[in-house]
Amino acid sequence: MTDFSNKYCLHTRTCGELRKENVGDDVVLTGWVQRRRDLGKLIFVDLRDRTGKTQCIFDPDVVDADGFADAERMRSEWVVKVEGAVCNRESVNPDMPTGEIEVLVKKVEILNSSVTPPFAIEDGIETGEDLRMKWRYLDLRRPEMFANLKLRHTVAQAIRKALNERGFIEVETPILGKSTPEGARDFVVPSRIMPGKFYALPQSPQLMKQMLMISGVERYYQIAKCFRDEDLRADRQPEFTQVDVEMSFIEEDDILTMMEDVLKEVFDEIGVEHPFPLQRMQYSEAMDRFGCDRPDVRFGMELVNLTDIVKDCGFKVFAGAAANGGVVKAINAKGAGDWSRGEIDKLATIATDNGGKGLAWIATTSEGKDKGPILKFLGEDVFAGIKEAMDMQPGDLILFAADKADTANAVLSALRLHMADALDIPREGHALLWVVNFPMFRFDEEEQRYVAEHHPFTQVRREDLDKIETDPLSCGSYSYDLVMDGYEAGGGTLRIHQAEEQKRILRRVGLSEEQIDEQFGFLVEALDHGAPPHGGIALGLDRLIMLLAGKDSIRDVIAFPKTTSGTDLMQESPTPVTDRQLQDVGLRLR
Ligand code: AMO
Ligand code: AMP
Repeated sequence: MTDFSNKYCLHTRTCGELRKENVGDDVVLTGWVQRRRDLGKLIFVDLRDRTGKTQCIFDPDVVDADGFADAERMRSEWVVKVEGAVCNRESVNPDMPTGEIEVLVKKVEILNSSVTPPFAIEDGIETGEDLRMKWRYLDLRRPEMFANLKLRHTVAQAIRKALNERGFIEVETPILGKSTPEGARDFVVPSRIMPGKFYALPQSPQLMKQMLMISGVERYYQIAKCFRDEDLRADRQPEFTQVDVEMSFIEEDDILTMMEDVLKEVFDEIGVEHPFPLQRMQYSEAMDRFGCDRPDVRFGMELVNLTDIVKDCGFKVFAGAAANGGVVKAINAKGAGDWSRGEIDKLATIATDNGGKGLAWIATTSEGKDKGPILKFLGEDVFAGIKEAMDMQPGDLILFAADKADTANAVLSALRLHMADALDIPREGHALLWVVNFPMFRFDEEEQRYVAEHHPFTQVRREDLDKIETDPLSCGSYSYDLVMDGYEAGGGTLRIHQAEEQKRILRRVGLSEEQIDEQFGFLVEALDHGAPPHGGIALGLDRLIMLLAGKDSIRDVIAFPKTTSGTDLMQESPTPVTDRQLQDVGLRLR
C-alpha cells in the first residue's frame, strides 16, 4: 500500500521514521519542540510529531546565523520546520527508535511560538485529570493518548471492513428523536417551531434499526453516538459510541457466530490473541458461580453455595437465612488467612454497601490455626463440611454472605473483585464470553412494577410464552451480553416481530393501551406491515477500546470526554443560554 504520510505537507519525513539506513538523506521535518539543550557551542532539539521524536543538532558552522539565533530562543512546544541531513549519532540512544541518528540542521523556520504548557507533554505524567481535561488538546499531544485515538480508529476501521464484507450497510439514524420513558433518562431538546414540544436524543438507535429491518435493509450497522442522562462512572459517559448492528432472518446462534467472526478479524488486525468461538454461559450459571452477569473469568475465587451444609447449624444468621428462603454462599480468599481481625472487619463495609447485613468470616492462618468469631457457633461437623466444600487450606480466608440470593450474590461478587485487587491476583490478557438467556423481566421496587431486563422489544423464550402474565420472573429471553474482562462490552436480543406479542410485553411492563399507542404506536403499526424476524447487538465501542488499551476509564479513549459531573472543562459546557434563546423555544427558568 502506498504510504502518503509525507505527501501533501511541509515535511518530507516524519519525526518517528528515520533510521540508520537514512544516513546521508536530506530531510525536512516539522513538529513540536520536546526538549532543548543548549551546550553553548551546539544546541540539541528533540523534535516531536505524532509518530515520534528525532534529535536535531544546531551547529553554528552548519546552520546560518539567523537559524542559530532561532534555536537559541526556541522553547518547549514551539512549532518548527527544520531542513538538514541525517547523520550517525555519536551517543546512540537505545531507548529511542530513532536513537541511532540525528539531523544536522541547515535551515530552520519557526512556524509558531507557544506559552509554557501547564504540564509536560510526555507519557507517565502525574497531572490531575481535571487539568488534563481543561487542556485536553495538550493532553492529546502525549504519545499514549494519540496511541489510544489511533487504536480506536484502527478498531473502528476493522469493524467496518468486517461488517461490510458480510453484506452490512451503514445507515445513519436521527439524532433528534422521540422521548420514550422506558430505559434511562433522556436528554431533551426543545422545539422552536412547536413550542412546548421536545425531541429526545437517542439512547440507542434501537427502534430505528428495527424500522430498517422492516424496510428490508436486512443487514445494518452504524457507529452511532448515543446519549443517556445517567449518573456517570469510569465506564459510563452521557454521550458514548455504540457499534450498532441488526440482522433479519436469523436465529440467536447466527448473530453470536457472526459477531465472533467480526471480533476475531478485529483482534487479528491489532494482534490480540483470544480463542474463538467464545464460551456461552447461561445467566443463571454466571450468577451462581460469580454472583454477577458480567463475570471476570480470568481468576477463580468462585462463589460456593453452603446453604445445605449450614442450614441446621448453631449460627443463627446462617440458619435463619436458610429457613427464610435465602442462601448462604462464600468465597475463599486464598492468601488472606493471616490478615488481622481489624483488616478483615474493614471488609464489612463492602458487604453493607452492597445491601448485606454484615460479613461473617473464618480463616486458617498459614501456621494452620483456625480463627474467626463465628467458629464457636458452627460446631465441628459443619466446620468440617465448610472446610471441605471451600477447599480451605492454611492461609485461607472464607467470607460468607447469608441473605436473599440476589443480595448474597451482589455482596460476594463485590468482595471477590476487591480481594483479587487486594491480593494482587494476576488478571492478564483478555477473557471474552457470552452470557446468554437473561430473565425477561425484573421487579423494580422503586417503581413497583415489572420492567424489562434488557428492553421490552426482546422476545420471551418460546417455552415461557404462557407465563408472561402469571409468572413473569420465570420467563427467559433470547438475549446475550458480550462480557470482556469483567465489563459488559455489548448486548443484544432477538426482537419481537409480531404486533400482538409486542403489545403484550408493553402491557406487562405496565403501559396502558393509550400509552402503548402514544409512545410505541408507530412500532406496533410497523410490525403489522410484514416485519421479518430480526435481532441484533450493540457493542460499547468506548469500553472495548478502553479494555484493549489497558485503561480503566473510558475517558482515556474518548477525545473530548465529560467529567463525572458531566462537564466539559475545556469548552466549559454546559452553560446558561441567553433570555432570547429561551424565549425562542418558549421556555422560562424556574
Ligand atoms: P445496551 O443499553 O446494553 O443495549 O447498550 C449496549 C452497550 O453500550 C455500552 N454502554 C455504554 N458505554 C458507555 N457509557 C454509557 N453510558 C453506556 N451505556 C451503554 C455498553 C453496553 O453493553 N439497543 C440495545 C442494544 C441491542 O439490543 O441491540 C442497547 O442499547 O457496553
Ligand atoms: P451478629 O450475630 O449479627 O452479631 O453477627 C455475627 C457476625 O455475622 C458478624 O461478623 C456479622 O458481620 C456477620 N453477619 C451478620 N449478618 C450477616 C449476613 N447476612 N451475612 C453474612 N454475615 C453476617
